[in-house]
Amino acid sequence: MERLKLADQGGIDKLLIGDLDIRNITLSIGDIIHQVNVEKLCRRFVEERGLKCESEALYDAALYHDIGKSLIEKNIIDKPGQLTVEERLIMEKHSLIGAMIMTGYASNKAVIIIRQHHEKVDGSGYPLGLRGHEMEYEAKILGICDYYAANMEERVYRPARTHEQTEVIMMGGNKHLFDHVLLYEFFSMFEGQMEKKVG
Ligand SMILES: [Fe+2]
Ligand SMILES: [Fe+2]
Repeated sequence: MERLKLADQGGIDKLLIGDLDIRNITLSIGDIIHQVNVEKLCRRFVEERGLKCESEALYDAALYHDIGKSLIEKNIIDKPGQLTVEERLIMEKHSLIGAMIMTGYASNKAVIIIRQHHEKVDGSGYPLGLRGHEMEYEAKILGICDYYAANMEERVYRPARTHEQTEVIMMGGNKHLFDHVLLYEFFSMFEGQMEKKVG
């Protein structure tokens, strides 16, 4: 599988992005685990539902989608309470920063997916407020898997949610944020599993 190919893509020259030495970039263990969770979920979604997409670009994007958080101030990342408007705007830069960091390491397609991973089909996302028809299909897949995984993980400001709670949020009040066909496909993936659990 293709991953970061430093040697093939310029190696040492690419360790600097402007004045930034990427060897100094660090992510929390929590963020790394989150990205691995999202990548696994994307893989499962694509494979189980037979989604036709640029899967390798999607998996690469999933595995590094939040790398931009490494350059966001830690007091904002770890803030237990609600972010102020200003802090939220800073936090929202992480998808653009992530795309910038990964340029040259991942495919162009993966970089675009990273940039779009917080866009929402109703245009309420960031950084550009793209609408569904302007978004990459893979970014819509990643958006659903990312949102689901983030809800199921504990955060400093809230406990982990259950699958059922997350489904109510995503299929209920926040349904307008996601591609409906993909959203139903995604949750139908768990149906057999949930029935088995109940039985
Ligand atoms: Fe993100
Ligand atoms: Fe994420």
